[in-house]
Amino acid sequence: MPRDLTDRVIVITGASSGIGAATALACAKEGMDLVLNARRPDRLQAVADEIRCIGRRAELVLGDVTRPGMSAQLLDAAERHFGHFNAVFANAGYGIRRAVAELDERDLREIFEVNFFAANDLLREAARRLIGAHRPGHLLMCSSSVARFTLPEYGAYCATKAAQAHVCRAMRMELKPFHIEVSSVHPITTTTEFVEVARRRSGLPPREPDIIHQVPKPFIQSPRRVARAVVSCLRRPRAEVWTSLTVRCLCGAVTAFPWLQDLLFARRIANRPPGSSPPPGSTDQLLTRNTRD
Ligand SMILES: NC(=O)c1ccc[n+]([C@@H]2O[C@H](COP(=O)([O-])OP(=O)(O)OC[C@H]3O[C@@H](n4cnc5c(N)ncnc54)[C@H](OP(=O)(O)O)[C@@H]3O)[C@@H](O)[C@H]2O)c1
Repeated sequence: MPRDLTDRVIVITGASSGIGAATALACAKEGMDLVLNARRPDRLQAVADEIRCIGRRAELVLGDVTRPGMSAQLLDAAERHFGHFNAVFANAGYGIRRAVAELDERDLREIFEVNFFAANDLLREAARRLIGAHRPGHLLMCSSSVARFTLPEYGAYCATKAAQAHVCRAMRMELKPFHIEVSSVHPITTTTEFVEVARRRSGLPPREPDIIHQVPKPFIQSPRRVARAVVSCLRRPRAEVWTSLTVRCLCGAVTAFPWLQDLLFARRIANRPPGSSPPPGSTDQLLTRNTRD
């Protein structure tokens, strides 16, 4: 029997845009109340307003997920306003686009702080509270399909996503006796602010060509597609949420035959003319559209 999500409470980080915002709205439509986090107050407030229009409650906790005590603050907010929480979705994250040899240690540590350590911190704090209160719960983390293969120039980002997936697998087995579900979410290329943020954070000029722009259109999805998959997992918990069977199978193939990955990606990087623009009709525009499109 799928779970009825009405009146359940979920905490979502990175809810001001993209996958986090779409998931927040999808959860509200299922009857859930929410605690939302991100750093941009105007964008987070806009998501909260939409949730209230749907008729559900949304409490905001503004700030950087890496701030000490942020996880406790988010869960405290859920307990204070709603009396408890049933689920958390550690979704806040970003990419950096730079060859591994060109990365400096500060960039590497910073991306792990946000994507890996902060997400872990939230899941661990939530697990401790649920165990202490003898309550079941569901912990989700937004990993990626790149947890299972690697994009050139996104090595650091892919490493954070692979690390997230491993932690989720371990926690899933460890928390089973406590009736706490753990799921990792593995979206494929999604039309969010991701590429633009990665470009900015990497100090690249506007419209710099990106290997992600070469992703064929069938492998690009909307944040709403991911949100539906997350809601479906909340209703029927499962270990991993994949939004493309084809990509999931390709991940298996490149694990077995790593040269396949080189064939798929390395040549595309090598053949790209320096400073060239994405070809007309490329996925560039799709990839820079925001959630509400
Ligand atoms: N787009 C894709 O192709 C794709 C594919 C697979 C997985 N993912 C994963 O999906 C997740 C969401 O990304 P997205 O694609 O939806 O991109 P996005 O539109 O850029 O959303 C990222 C969200 O994370 C928040 N965030 C970033 N750094 C933060 C920090 N230090 N503290 C608090 N919030 C922070 C941002 O909010 P503020 O800027 O307001 O803080 C924003 O709400 C990420 O974990 C990403 O790795 C994305």
